[in-house]
Amino acid sequence: MSFDKELIQNIIEEFKVDNENLQEIAANFRQDLQLGLKQSESTSLKMLKSYVSLPSGKEIGEYLALDFGGTNVRVSKIKLKGNGQFEVVKKIAKPLTSEHISSKANANDLFNFIAELIDEAIDFDHSTKFYLGHTFSFPSSQTNLYNAKLIVWTKEFTTAGVEGKVVNDLLKEALNHKGITNVEPVSVINDTVAVLLSTSYQHTDTFIGSIYATGHNTCYLEPSVGMILNLESGGFMKLTPNRFDLELDSKSEKPNEQRLEKMVSGRYMGELFSIVMNELFNEKLNCKFTSIDLSNIIEHEEQVKNLIESKLNKQIGEEDSKAIKDIVSAIVIRSARLVTATYVGLIWQITGSKEIVNQHIAIDGSVYEKMPLVKESINQAFNELLDEDAIKVDTLLDNGGSGLGAAISAAIASATN
Ligand code: GLC
Repeated sequence: MSFDKELIQNIIEEFKVDNENLQEIAANFRQDLQLGLKQSESTSLKMLKSYVSLPSGKEIGEYLALDFGGTNVRVSKIKLKGNGQFEVVKKIAKPLTSEHISSKANANDLFNFIAELIDEAIDFDHSTKFYLGHTFSFPSSQTNLYNAKLIVWTKEFTTAGVEGKVVNDLLKEALNHKGITNVEPVSVINDTVAVLLSTSYQHTDTFIGSIYATGHNTCYLEPSVGMILNLESGGFMKLTPNRFDLELDSKSEKPNEQRLEKMVSGRYMGELFSIVMNELFNEKLNCKFTSIDLSNIIEHEEQVKNLIESKLNKQIGEEDSKAIKDIVSAIVIRSARLVTATYVGLIWQITGSKEIVNQHIAIDGSVYEKMPLVKESINQAFNELLDEDAIKVDTLLDNGGSGLGAAISAAIASATN
């Protein structure tokens, strides 16, 4: 078969964010930030207090870091050496499966699994005292650095019995149950906060931290409250979804929530493409593409025919590979442009009527790190939105920041305890 050219063009148009849209989205995001700072109900940003500010870089000591919230759960032992120096002494990672994160699972299943991993990371040593920092990558409300309560699951996680609970209490219970009383969880931070702590431990001039991975979210240092605020920007709603976004949303675990995240993050881009394929083949194909497939399609047009054949059992014509690559590119470019518009809205807000200062935006995540077209699309969008000021802003990859940030937060918490 060969796809209808008009339909292809129409689909690509649906994913376009032109310069005018881009400006409007950045301005709307800034407005939501202003509403959020005034605690107005009409903002779509949660602006959650983290109870931590930027580190001094002088934090030292050995800490355990638990990183939970993406595809894998990781536990590391990290030695902070001060002067922005650190060493990962040990690291253990295991993939999360439906046994832990679907509605079949409950809080015990999840936290027992995590406690086992912690036990492995401390070599089953039940006497040495360890302080543990926990990067928990979901919207949580807290009144101190310890007592983060999960507000609501995102990213299609549905483990029963965790929403509304203080996650470190659940973790402590699981640790005690295993006889691990020497590990003391002392802090909980969002992964965006972890990335900001980690990058600013090593580089000054960093005020914004972001995750661009399975999920998407951003945090920043808000001077008026003297702490980092987790925006839960994946929940930004002032965007116009296209028909594919609407279909994805209606089938998701939490319809009408997390609009930005569902339009941009790794958990969802493959799914958007699957919905597009249903329309192109005009049938409900029972197949899910992942963002790794999308990356392969952009990088290896010559392999698209085989991929479609093996995944969908469908033949496509010669020109169709290019059409598919163009659609995937449009999905990815839209994602990067939307994310950048939110960064710029945030920079405008932080800067106010002053001059934009030179700064890094710390980003971690597989989409930012590995997806083709993302970095150049971010730069292009910065140029469009900031003109000559674009030179003052760059993005820094903070690989592993979720772990290092957790260790830094444990150092800060145990110093103030
Ligand atoms: C989701 C979570 C958020 C997290 C992000 C990246 O958006 O709600 O807390 O920061 O994913 O992992």
